[in-house]
Amino acid sequence: MRALVGSLGVGMIALAMGCAVTPPPPDGHQLFSDLCAGCHGVDGKGHGPSAPGLSQQPADLTKISAKNHGVFPRVKVMSWIDGFTRAGKHGGLVMPIFDPLLDGPTVMVETGKGVMTPTPEKLVMLADYVQSLQKP
Ligand code: HEC
Repeated sequence: MRALVGSLGVGMIALAMGCAVTPPPPDGHQLFSDLCAGCHGVDGKGHGPSAPGLSQQPADLTKISAKNHGVFPRVKVMSWIDGFTRAGKHGGLVMPIFDPLLDGPTVMVETGKGVMTPTPEKLVMLADYVQSLQKP
């Protein structure tokens, strides 16, 4: 049943049920289930099915804000996902670089000091989804 629900896509089911509580952006959720949940777990806490076999344990993605004085470091998270900030760094080789995420349309994102940078839309959706997972 779990697998069936997964393959249908939780977003579609939420839609069918009429969306009671504010759901996270469906596309970000879908991308996360497809690309990230295997290691980080569907809840983002780092206990995905592949986690036990890794040489380094996936980070708890619900604590990113908590570790950063309560502020979600959106740009940092995006550049972590696209591999930019971790090339050659600790942990950088365990988590894959997601090139396909960089294809497709871009949106303008403020990357600091009012500078707007064209950023792949899928990356933004994923970062927003990870932000929606944050727990105090
Ligand atoms: C093959 C397993 C694997 C997959 C798949 C994976 N990650 Fe990771 N991720 C890791 C590991 C291991 C770390 C911890 C690295 C470290 O602490 O240096 C990590 C760390 C992170 C961090 C840094 C967290 C922090 O507290 O600094 C973020 C953000 C992150 N992952 C997001 C994602 C997203 C989003 C996806 C899907 C696009 C994803 N990861 C897919 C293994 C994975």
